[in-house]
Amino acid sequence: MKTDNTHSAVPFYRPDVRDPELEEVIAALRSGWLTTGPRVQRFEREFGTAVAAPHAVALNSCTAALHLAVHTLGLRGGEGVLVPAMTFAATAEVVRYEGGVPILIDSEPGTLNMDLDRAEWTMTHLRSGSALAGLPPDVPVVGMIPVHVGGMMMDVDGINAFASRHQLWVVEDAAHAFPAAWRKSPDASWQHCGQQTATISCFSFYANKTITTGEGGMAVTSDAGLAARLRLLSLHGLSQDAWGRYSGNGSWDYRILAPGYKYNMTDIAAAIGIHQLARAEEMRRTREAIAQEYLRRLADVEELELPPTDVNRIHAWHLFPIRLRLERLTVDRNDFIKELGRAGVSCSVHWRPLHLHPYYEQAFGWRAADLPVASAEWTRLVSLPLFSGMENHEIDAVVKAVCDVCRRASRRRAVTLSAETA
Ligand SMILES: Cc1ncc(COP(=O)(O)O)c(C=O)c1O
Repeated sequence: MKTDNTHSAVPFYRPDVRDPELEEVIAALRSGWLTTGPRVQRFEREFGTAVAAPHAVALNSCTAALHLAVHTLGLRGGEGVLVPAMTFAATAEVVRYEGGVPILIDSEPGTLNMDLDRAEWTMTHLRSGSALAGLPPDVPVVGMIPVHVGGMMMDVDGINAFASRHQLWVVEDAAHAFPAAWRKSPDASWQHCGQQTATISCFSFYANKTITTGEGGMAVTSDAGLAARLRLLSLHGLSQDAWGRYSGNGSWDYRILAPGYKYNMTDIAAAIGIHQLARAEEMRRTREAIAQEYLRRLADVEELELPPTDVNRIHAWHLFPIRLRLERLTVDRNDFIKELGRAGVSCSVHWRPLHLHPYYEQAFGWRAADLPVASAEWTRLVSLPLFSGMENHEIDAVVKAVCDVCRRASRRRAVTLSAETA
């Protein structure tokens, strides 16, 4: 948190890219090796160490990681996968890539993560042959893709107990959750997100994520066979990549072992990632300090609900979602965001839930009433700017703008004013 006195607009996000990243990118360009090569290998090794996972495969997005994960675990057309309603497009679309059926699960009201009780209810209904809105009858459920929304991890033991009870594989959408950790209780040891928290865990290095490579992702697993398959499929199913063929004693020759994809990460991207990774914990601590500042300074604003914290979580603080108490405000969420915009503060919303998007609405016929928590909560969600390069005057500007809008649009104030003018 640097301090200076410039008062400019506060962006929703600004990447924290410094000299080491710039110098490494130049070194990569000068090296003459631009595609997957030694920098990707180093990034994979160091990322695997950071999350205590034996195998890490660098890819060109988290979406690619999620797709390869469900593909590698054998998802087939017509099979169902439990996916939270409250997530980004990628979590469900990778199920559609394979012709599978995303089975949307409502949110747990506190964290907005997938509600495992609701997932249990869904499994019970499906297994008893009951028809559920938006789902073909008798859909066989084979897996689940939980998301750690905003970087606050779910109860990993809860997920895995649920999955083993129902014989499901677990692919973790950890797009927001690096670095993050959880423990069962204060006397238990910490487990990193990716440290055997799922069969395959998928991270995002998209431009606004907690560490970035511009675009990029990583799939981690403790299963050597799965890792080898992910790697193979990430580059057209070729028996060896270009670095293997053209560096050292490699041969030009290769064999196509499977129909794969073009999902490999470049050395240019990895050059950025290596140095972002080295500062990941420092950047997380800075975001945590900013989040604590928001929590302290907005605590008494009665028009707001603030995001939960938990002593048994190391929160990645990718997002800082506030929820508006709409019954105490004279404006709706969209107008609230417009007001913040007029004050120079850019915000976002995570997310319009999947069932309220035209494709999913039309393809599956889900109704808002089927997923009541996600349907209600999204109308009052606002993600405030939170990034490690935020300066103190930017934090002040966000707090001031939020407080000003709440004051101006408070119903209590409206009632007082109308009483005064009566
Ligand atoms: C929850 C979630 N999953 C997956 C993704 C996809 O990540 P990527 O852009 O790296 O493919 C995102 C991106 O914002 C996300 O928020």
